[in-house]
Amino acid sequence: MDMPRLGFGTYGRTGSEGIAAILSALGAGYRHLDTAQTYDTEREVGEAIRRSGLPRDEVFVTTKVAEHNLGPGQVIPSLERSLAELGLDHVDLALIHWPARAGGPAPEAYLRQIAEARDRGLAWHIGVSNFTIALIEEACSILGAGAILTNQIELNPWFRNRRLADHCASRGIVVTCYEPLARGKVGADPVLQAIARRHGATPEQVALAWELAQGYAAIPTSRSPERIRQNFAAQELDLSPDELAEVDALDRGIRSIDPDWGPDWD
Ligand SMILES: NC(=O)c1ccc[n+]([C@@H]2O[C@H](COP(=O)([O-])OP(=O)(O)OC[C@H]3O[C@@H](n4cnc5c(N)ncnc54)[C@H](OP(=O)(O)O)[C@@H]3O)[C@@H](O)[C@H]2O)c1
Repeated sequence: MDMPRLGFGTYGRTGSEGIAAILSALGAGYRHLDTAQTYDTEREVGEAIRRSGLPRDEVFVTTKVAEHNLGPGQVIPSLERSLAELGLDHVDLALIHWPARAGGPAPEAYLRQIAEARDRGLAWHIGVSNFTIALIEEACSILGAGAILTNQIELNPWFRNRRLADHCASRGIVVTCYEPLARGKVGADPVLQAIARRHGATPEQVALAWELAQGYAAIPTSRSPERIRQNFAAQELDLSPDELAEVDALDRGIRSIDPDWGPDWD
């Protein structure tokens, strides 16, 4: 199954309210769910898929290997625990959530482990998240560019991340936008609001339509069934070349997720 370009993020979607939100997303038509070992939502994702009655092979499930599970011999057991939490026999995509911090395991060691997890059938595809251009190059030289399905990175109209996104595209690696709505804040942007008014849409839909028009994937989340449905409907919104250029010009270059142990960003 190809990765559906619009997925549902599950950060914060914990417990029974989380299962209800994920079920809403599946009901609205999402067929791509994004979880991680650190989100505490793997159980909710598996439970929602089972309750939805959808065939397993119609839902693309991504999880991410936590930074504390990158050491020698740790990646595969951590993915086995993820599968037990999910109640699934494989995920469609397993990502390295963050590159190891300075002084931690070398990329070669944990990338070879995640490739072995794929070869054993625990994950049908593999990829990375929060990888810089230099780390993407290192990953390509270790595994081959074709091995990496996506780099999941912060990207939205206020944080364009263009150099990295263009580099991924040049390597045939799909960019997946996290925080595609800048945590809900892009809705306040007057340019997005003006474009939205012309289309009878919401500014959040304009942001998502712009991301999809670049060829990126996006994984917005919401607790609200109405906003979940609206976000999914962004796929029907066609922006003109002039409108896409207007959104392109909104970049403020301010990164939101920037832990002090993170990589040296581009
Ligand atoms: N790889 C990584 O390191 C990484 C880092 C961060 C996130 N992620 C993934 O990316 C997903 C999305 O990122 P995110 O949750 O940080 O940010 P986001 O999707 O950009 O924003 C979510 C916020 O926007 C609000 N919202 C959603 N739709 C809206 C709408 N139509 N109108 C108004 N407000 C709306 C939500 O509030 P309500 O719930 O009240 O609607 C929520 O507070 C996460 O769930 C996670 O799966 C990955």
